[in-house]
Amino acid sequence: MDAPIFINKRIATFNKKIVIPGDKSLSIRWVLLASQATGKSKAYNLLMSEDVVAAIDSIKKLGIKVKKNKNYCEIVGNGINGFKYTKNLTINAKNSGTLGRLLLGLLIKSPQKIRLIGDKSLSKRDFSRVTLPLEKFGAKFDYRIENKLPLSILGSLSPKGIKYLESKGSAQCKSSVMLAALNSSGTTIIKAKKSRNHSELLFKYLKIPIKIKKTKKYDFIDIKRPEKIKAFNYQIPGDISSSAFFMVLTTLSKDSKLLIKGVNVNPSRIGVITILKKMGAKILLKNQRNYRGEKIADILIKSSNNLKAINCPSELNSSAIDEFLVIFLVAAKAKGISYFKNMSELNQKESPRLKWGSKILNMMGVKTKLTKDSIKIYGQPDLEITRKIEIKNYLKDHRIFMMSTIAALTFGGQWKIYAKNSINTSFPSFLEIVKKIDNKSL
Ligand code: S3P
Repeated sequence: MDAPIFINKRIATFNKKIVIPGDKSLSIRWVLLASQATGKSKAYNLLMSEDVVAAIDSIKKLGIKVKKNKNYCEIVGNGINGFKYTKNLTINAKNSGTLGRLLLGLLIKSPQKIRLIGDKSLSKRDFSRVTLPLEKFGAKFDYRIENKLPLSILGSLSPKGIKYLESKGSAQCKSSVMLAALNSSGTTIIKAKKSRNHSELLFKYLKIPIKIKKTKKYDFIDIKRPEKIKAFNYQIPGDISSSAFFMVLTTLSKDSKLLIKGVNVNPSRIGVITILKKMGAKILLKNQRNYRGEKIADILIKSSNNLKAINCPSELNSSAIDEFLVIFLVAAKAKGISYFKNMSELNQKESPRLKWGSKILNMMGVKTKLTKDSIKIYGQPDLEITRKIEIKNYLKDHRIFMMSTIAALTFGGQWKIYAKNSINTSFPSFLEIVKKIDNKSL
């Protein structure tokens, strides 16, 4: 087990400016799409976390050249389905559901069997959500344990476009099918419950034939195979999911203020801002601009001492899916009982987060009512922790570690938090940024 960190005091009042590393979803998508482009692509501010490095290592194993320079990463793509590899290849997606699921979409034409493995956490997660639609394209899968990694994929010689209904609000499922469409004849027609739309924006920017019709609940997406994808450079904006920990840190701290520069505020990702604002958080988007279809802004947050409970509309679930653990901390301090429903997807993440989030709140002395897919949180505006709390985190879930750290820094108590290295999957500089805000806090 990783060495634990100990936190015994709250963060002092602060007024700071920070920059958050590149967005993980966009970083992985850039790596995968650049591998399908023809020629040299460059990414600036690419997130250099374990999930993204695993993506780079995967495409390298598939015969793609990658160079990491000081300020940028360069990928020399071989064109669509231009992977070159020898027999008995094993690819390790490590902790990353996004990498594992999206990459399978790119492999539906692979002429040899490829084995996909992952770490302990990823090996507990469901893969049938992508293998079922990918089988419809003609790919074949072998499992050792039904629907789980390790699995093998064998592609089809001539994949054909499919009709697909994505009903979980999962961008990973939608994107896996979108990437499979790059290798398929005919049209792939997707009806997808709303979820993050980075893949769609990148397809549009890359002039891949894509048509999108939006209704309130669903997006209807048609994709045709492009002749080729042109190499492209991309400047990755800051990650809103990583920023969320600092939005909550500031909201729950006394008399503090924080400016987070250059964050991706794509409307399909800002559920956390909408929810926190409804609860009384003071958050302002400044200097808003557009970049290749993505919205970017600086986010200004001030402490709030007047937080109220929320009955969270489930339409916001997908746009805040990675942020609920820290949102729960705000609910713990809000006046009233907060209610989050239709959240079964939260138990499908790197750990069963709905369950574990509830457990951590209980350890903090906060009452919860938990069902399979919902949680009620009984807020305590005067919550102050004095007890000892130990967070084991045996699946090494990065967001469980970061949520616990933010709780320790804002509610007090004596915390021992394990699995520090888990932050390397998404946000390696998390603790450095905490220290930058208050160098005596850790
Ligand atoms: C992601 C989509 C989300 C999210 C994950 C990243 C993506 O998963 O939880 O961290 O980059 O597409 P689901 O789409 O499965 O909800």
